[in-house]
Amino acid sequence: MYLLIILSKKIKCYFVHNFKLAANNKTMKSIWAKAKERKNGNIEGDKDIVVIGGGIAGFLTAFRLSQSGKQVTLIEANKVLGGVTSKTTAHIDCMESFIYGKMITKSFETTKDFYFFQQEAIQEYENLINEYKIECDFVKVDSYFYTQHKQQELIDEFNSLKDIGADVEFIENPNLPVGEATMAFKLKNQAIFDPIKFLNGLSVNFEIIEGVRVLDIDFKTKTLYTSKNEFRANKIIVATNFPFVNFPGWYFLRMYKSHSYAVAIDKAQDIKGSYLNADESGLTFRNHIDSVIVGGYDHRSGRPYKYQSFDRLYEKGKHLTDDGTLTHQWSANDCVTFDDLPYVGYYSKRSKDIYVITGFGKLGMAKAMASSILISDMINDIPNKYKKLCDPLRKGQCNWSFFKNLLCTLKNLVLMPLVPPFRCVKNIKAGQGKVVFYKGVKTAVYKDEDEKIHAISPYCAHLGCQLKFNPDARTWDCPCHGSRFDIHGNIITAPTTKKQERV
Ligand code: FES
Repeated sequence: MYLLIILSKKIKCYFVHNFKLAANNKTMKSIWAKAKERKNGNIEGDKDIVVIGGGIAGFLTAFRLSQSGKQVTLIEANKVLGGVTSKTTAHIDCMESFIYGKMITKSFETTKDFYFFQQEAIQEYENLINEYKIECDFVKVDSYFYTQHKQQELIDEFNSLKDIGADVEFIENPNLPVGEATMAFKLKNQAIFDPIKFLNGLSVNFEIIEGVRVLDIDFKTKTLYTSKNEFRANKIIVATNFPFVNFPGWYFLRMYKSHSYAVAIDKAQDIKGSYLNADESGLTFRNHIDSVIVGGYDHRSGRPYKYQSFDRLYEKGKHLTDDGTLTHQWSANDCVTFDDLPYVGYYSKRSKDIYVITGFGKLGMAKAMASSILISDMINDIPNKYKKLCDPLRKGQCNWSFFKNLLCTLKNLVLMPLVPPFRCVKNIKAGQGKVVFYKGVKTAVYKDEDEKIHAISPYCAHLGCQLKFNPDARTWDCPCHGSRFDIHGNIITAPTTKKQERV
């Protein structure tokens, strides 16, 4: 008996070890199509309308404004559609977590508007796909929200959605393919698609400039300072995931970033819907062609968490496949506001010609479309009933989440830099990164598989918080506002506009 136990442990160890190697050898690549190559525009000269940020929100805003006859330039620091948009799980969904039940206790109207702001956007996706005959694997699905442990919250969420007029249906004794549930409901008329194929299919009547980073904006003169030059614009829209201008706006105090992971496993069964687990793991499931995409395990950027998120996601999804292989794995971070509503509108009180789009939470596809409609209406002087809902200058944001966020920022900005590093480079294993003493100073060091050292400053180039290594994504992440850097210190995501210094 004793021998059998030892043997079974050895066998389990062998499979787990080999599986982990297989998963870890995958490159960080999402399942979505490749973005079309575009002709690069001309950075010289003043512009009429400039959209900064070539993700889905910026792209759709540029598209809509150009369709209304405006002269638009979209400017992107790297490649258009190469950032967070290429790392989504692409649920076009009005659900996310327990939001409506919470929101309705404060305002029925806001809750209702927030739902329809997104639901109407799903219809707009369908309209555009039909109008431009875009092949983008768009499928209308029901979205299942389910739980094992949070029955009362789920009932509250269901009742709130029903009260505001959403098309929801409670499911008695749910028997869902994706996992165990004690309670569930479905929200009808949601969708899934390939976001890059969709955006590739839209006609582009606007100028695109890639490889130019906007470093700052003078709000008085509407001058943009870029990595190449400086120029003026009549209107500017900041759609850079996290807004990069700190003052005015103060967005660094009004949001945080959440990091989440996703895998695609092939040979999958048709799970017939989009699924969101309401429990801690925040798991999501959907099909894409013959694969299943499993997302989740989100955590605040730069916070400690359980490692091997990709392995754990594969474990959650493999039973939905016929011995499927993990073909893709990727991760991204999303901007979360403290009242769960996005910021779409004037960047600050100081300028009516500079706009912001951000704060889409964890499932942002519907909000991206809705925001592009709102900004385009504002610029074209068309009344839009959701302007107040998303007003970045709205009141009521100094809630408990705001203070928690402030404490976290203070800890990482003031306290952590004072803590001396107790480890040295010898303590770092291959494939790991740590903040250690190196060359006599505190340094963020990554040791690659060949034991080569890659050393950068441990203090974030944005405002100076101490970085933390993310072993799954192999990036240095900032716990304050979620800037991310690769092991060489190159920028992966805003708000920073500066690289990390190499040591
Ligand atoms: Fe703000 Fe790092 S992102 S300090």
